[in-house]
Amino acid sequence: MGNSSKIGIFGAGWVGLVTGACFAELGHQVVIRDIVPEKISMLQRGEVPFHEQDVPELLRRNAERLTFTLDVNDIADCTFLFVCVDTPPTYSGDADLSRVWTVVDELPELSGRPILVMKSTVPVGTGEKVRAGLDQRGLSHVGYVSNPEFLAEGHAVRDFMAPDRVVVGAFQAKDVEAVAGLYDGIEGPVVRADVNSAEMIKLAANAFLMTRISFINEIANVCEATDADVVKVAEGVGLDHRLGSHFLRAGIGYGGSCFPKDSLALKQLASNSGYHFQLLSAVIEVNELQKRRMIGKLKRHLGSLRGKRVALLGLAFKAGTDDMREAPSIVLASRLLAEGAEVRAWDPVANGSSLPEGVDVVGSVLEAVQGADAAVIVTEWPELEGLASAETLAAMANPLIIDGRNLLDPEETRRAGFGYEGIGRPLLAADAVPQTV
Ligand SMILES: NC(=O)c1ccc[n+]([C@@H]2O[C@H](COP(=O)([O-])OP(=O)(O)OC[C@H]3O[C@@H](n4cnc5c(N)ncnc54)[C@H](O)[C@@H]3O)[C@@H](O)[C@H]2O)c1
Repeated sequence: MGNSSKIGIFGAGWVGLVTGACFAELGHQVVIRDIVPEKISMLQRGEVPFHEQDVPELLRRNAERLTFTLDVNDIADCTFLFVCVDTPPTYSGDADLSRVWTVVDELPELSGRPILVMKSTVPVGTGEKVRAGLDQRGLSHVGYVSNPEFLAEGHAVRDFMAPDRVVVGAFQAKDVEAVAGLYDGIEGPVVRADVNSAEMIKLAANAFLMTRISFINEIANVCEATDADVVKVAEGVGLDHRLGSHFLRAGIGYGGSCFPKDSLALKQLASNSGYHFQLLSAVIEVNELQKRRMIGKLKRHLGSLRGKRVALLGLAFKAGTDDMREAPSIVLASRLLAEGAEVRAWDPVANGSSLPEGVDVVGSVLEAVQGADAAVIVTEWPELEGLASAETLAAMANPLIIDGRNLLDPEETRRAGFGYEGIGRPLLAADAVPQTV
């Protein structure tokens, strides 16, 4: 374990809390500051404001090294000040940096040579602007480092403690080394870069992952038209060592708090600089269409959806989290309601509060499928792996499963008495026959 430092963190969201808990685990003293009083009170009581495995345990284990506060002055004696605030999209698609600027404006009197470390995802060029802003505020003695975060919700602690890489970009070499030193005790290569390149690494990595998702989703759609099975195709493609198997799982389209906003922000960043990022524009469009394809699948089986009861199974944008930001379930629910369907929804942890009005959120899978004309698997929760059961069969008015995550085995599901359609998987003639309307 390296030397212990005092670290201040702005933002007690996914990134701020995971960063704080993991640095405390590494032996650092950590002060986490947020502006939402309820969040801070919960954390002070030992409760975690969102669902993320391992975080509660880490907070408990390192309680004596962690404090939570609303008062910005409590971070005044920290050597490192991590910015982990949200950077949502504006109407134009650009990243909204207002919270980042608030942090810069709010910084208290700081002595010594503390370093402001940007973990929030920001457009390329932000570091240069923040550097100028710090200088203008008379904070030239404060260093600036870009240290983007790559954790994925659902296994965020694992990603932080065993990263594929740590990226550190700075204007001064000594700042790179100081921030890299905080990660002593963590295995993983450190990529040392200039600030602009560090910012671009984050945006490019996300864009590449989204490209893979949209690519395999388009292959899935072609598989549907040609009677091929995308699961087999992805297996065969992914074994090529030049390609690898990650992010080659066809499905309902990506969502979440990062991919949709980061892709828009990179597209806007390019177009503001005079470049039309064609490939990324297509990736975004393919993803939007992918979410809507589920409606076409339902109609192929049920005809008009007016008055039909549809169970939405899974609301979070992916398994392992209660985060519903930009979740495909929201788009699906809105489209189903617009088609006149009755929607019952279930999720083991997400509370469904961001669903459109009119969706009935229920407490169990069985309640959701009761009397349903179709059940749609929206999130790949392990709890849904046993969906094709006799209980479900008896409960549904029409035993049809539309599997937006290719979670179930098509043959087993059909053998259990269900109509089944996944993403990019061959249909049986029986599956494709629409009901009379
Ligand atoms: N969630 C992820 O999986 C993930 C992964 C990598 C990077 N990121 C990026 O990290 C950043 C944070 O993401 P998140 O998911 O943790 O966001 P979040 O919305 O969960 O948390 C942000 C927190 O910052 C707080 N905040 C806002 N202004 C503040 C201020 N002035 N002082 C202190 N706290 C303030 C908010 O109240 C909120 O609690 C974003 O830029 C995001 O793109 C997120």
